[in-house]
Formats: sequence, structure tokens, C-alpha cells
Amino acid sequence: MNLLLFGPPGAGKGTQSQFLVQRLGYRHFSTGDLFRAALRLGTRLGLEAKGFMERGELVPDRIVIGMVEEEFRKLGENQAWILDGFPRTVPQGEALEDMLQRLGISIGRVVFLTVRRELLIKRLSGRRMTADGKYVYNIEFNPPKMPGVCDVTGEKLIQRDDDREDVVLNRLKTYEEMTEPLKQFYAAKNRLSEVKGEGDPEVVHSRILELIQ
Ligand code: AP5
Repeated sequence: MNLLLFGPPGAGKGTQSQFLVQRLGYRHFSTGDLFRAALRLGTRLGLEAKGFMERGELVPDRIVIGMVEEEFRKLGENQAWILDGFPRTVPQGEALEDMLQRLGISIGRVVFLTVRRELLIKRLSGRRMTADGKYVYNIEFNPPKMPGVCDVTGEKLIQRDDDREDVVLNRLKTYEEMTEPLKQFYAAKNRLSEVKGEGDPEVVHSRILELIQ
């Protein structure tokens, strides 16, 4: 069943996607990860997205929609996927509906992770990761064994530029204004399922499993 993981910044979309990839073989694509990879490679896409991301604003719809369509074309047949971080505006939601219809693909469930705002701020400002974003920690909720060092690779952990507190507050504001209306968009299509995103990540994972299995 194809899934759309949706929720505010720091709700745990990336964390939960990783569980689903490792345990159920999902293919995960996150628009934020795609932009960060493009930035690291210094491509035109990355440069176009850079300023918006640094300010905690959304990258314009025309750029994001084109990028997602390209990713869908690369998907193997019969491979279940999780879309994380897209759509983020109602026009993106409409574009996704069009795209899926043209490609003959459907979304099984839209999982909306709910987390209180004060916890989101703590999670985001405490997040640390490897430079490629593969291993993610949290200084408060999931610290590495040795502060600032990845348990798996031994490399130095970094903080995402947009996890600084001023940018975090802007990301939350952008989310409330631009992305939250999508809840109504999917509720009207009877596809929305709310899952409490607070508590141990394993507990959140089992709530998601209950819903999709
Ligand atoms: P993106 O990378 O998508 O960022 P986001 O939505 O802000 O989400 P995050 O990755 O910050 O949070 P998450 O929900 O994945 O949480 P995570 O699991 O990491 O987008 C970045 C930027 O790219 C945007 O601001 C925008 O500029 C641009 N962009 C991307 N998509 C776009 C689009 N469609 N349109 C336009 N622009 C777009 O967890 C966070 C922390 O909490 C971690 O430290 C983790 O360890 C911890 N944690 C997770 N779960 C738990 C738990 N249950 N308990 C305790 N701690 C937990």
C-alpha cells in the first residue's frame, strides 16, 4: 500500500519512514532529502532551493512538482513507496492527484502525525545527523553514545542549517499557513488517518502498522 506521510516539521516523518523501509521494504522518497542531496552536489536544483530552505520557506511549487514527477518515473513497478514532505501546499496536492492518475498509481493512506508544537521545537533544535543525513540522532531523545559522534560511522555529527531556532519558528509558521490546509483536502477524500506521533518511536511505528496492515 502506497503511503503519504504528512505532518509538521519534526513530527517524525523521516524516522518512521526509515522503520517502514527497513522492516517492510518500502521505497522512501523525501523532497527535503532530494533538495539537500542536490545542494551537496551543487546542482542547479540545489542552488534554486537553497535560499528558500535556509529561510524556512517553501521551494516554489513549479520546481518541486517537476522534481517529484521525475522521481515517480524512476519507480519500479509493484514497489510500494512512502512519500514524505510532498505535497506541502494544496496546489501540490492537486498536481499529485493529476500525476498519479496519469501514471496509473494510487495512494492507499495519508498518515498524518500529530505532535504538540513545543515538542516539535525541542525535537528540531536537538536533531543531529551525519552529513549525508543517513543517521539521525537527537541530543535529548536519542543521543549518540559519544556526544557529537555517529555510533555507526564514527563521523562528526552536524546540525541542519534550518534546525536553528529562528528558522525552526519560520518553518512552523510556513507549515501552519501553507501545509495544514492539506488536512482538509485529504479528509474530504476520506483518505486521512491521524496517528499520535508522540511517545517512543517504536510505539509510533506500531500505531502506523495497525493502520496499514
Ligand atoms: P524536510 O526535510 O521535508 O523537513 P520537514 O518537513 O521540516 O521535516 P523534518 O525532516 O525536519 O522532520 P521529520 O518529520 O522528518 O522528523 P524526523 O523524523 O527527522 O524539508 C526541508 C525544507 O525543504 C523545507 O523547509 C522546504 O524549504 C523544502 N521542501 C521540502 N519539501 C518541499 C515541498 N514539498 N514543497 C516546497 N518546499 C519543500 O525527527 C526530527 C527529530 O526528532 C530527530 O532528531 C528524531 O530523532 C526525533 N524524533 C523523531 N521521532 C521521535 C519520537 N517519537 N520521540 C522523540 N524524538 C523523536
